[in-house]
Amino acid sequence: MKVVVTESYDASCAYVADMICNLVNEKPNCKLGLATGGTPVPMYQKLIEANKAGKVDFSQVHTVNLDEYCGIPETHDQSYRYFMNHNLFDHINIDKANTYVAKGMGDSAANAAELEAKVREGGVADLQLLGIGNNGHIAFNEASDVLHATAHVETLTESTIQANSRFFEKKEDVPTTAITMGMGDILAAKCVVLIATGAAKTDAIRGLVMDDVITTHNPSSMLKMHENVVVVIDKELADLVGYKA
Ligand code: GLP
Repeated sequence: MKVVVTESYDASCAYVADMICNLVNEKPNCKLGLATGGTPVPMYQKLIEANKAGKVDFSQVHTVNLDEYCGIPETHDQSYRYFMNHNLFDHINIDKANTYVAKGMGDSAANAAELEAKVREGGVADLQLLGIGNNGHIAFNEASDVLHATAHVETLTESTIQANSRFFEKKEDVPTTAITMGMGDILAAKCVVLIATGAAKTDAIRGLVMDDVITTHNPSSMLKMHENVVVVIDKELADLVGYKA
């Protein structure tokens, strides 16, 4: 695992945006696994700027997102499809037909099966972007006694509902279940890039970068089994974690 410590969160976003631009420039028809959450938003802004400046062309890129809430339509401003359109797809020259976010409405088992198929359709992701939950969850694979390998419906933990309630009017509005890629889907990507910032992520990142322990109670620790993982954190978070480059 490569841990990159940057000067600032903005520098972390620039680092990851550069990685993605370099990949797309090298392989214009690459497949990207994308993530939601607050953390990648400024990074997506940098991709938009690069695209507008003519530095990167997304016209042949395919994308698959990690997860989607169950029970809210894609027109809902907290659905992950809405998030992706609003924060990235509407502002770059990607063909939206080549972007996939799991369906949140309808038959959840069928929606999970469709996501599972999309993970491998046309080959696995060349790069999978990840954020991380306060409890170490990646996508919506929650910290628990067991994890799942494939796409499935996950019941969200109290900690995740609490953390994500900042995006909703009230906590009761946060969906309690979600469709998510499984751990095997994430580990199938050729390269995994995780970006994290903020004190709330200290314990989760400590469990990821400070030892070789793998535990289902910090799902991100499973990334230690992948050959090509880059964890990008700013100096402030590295200091909180006690990580020395
Ligand atoms: C959600 C998403 C995750 C994301 C996490 C952290 O639970 N399903 O993919 O990593 O939130 O989000 P934030 O970046 O807002 O802290």
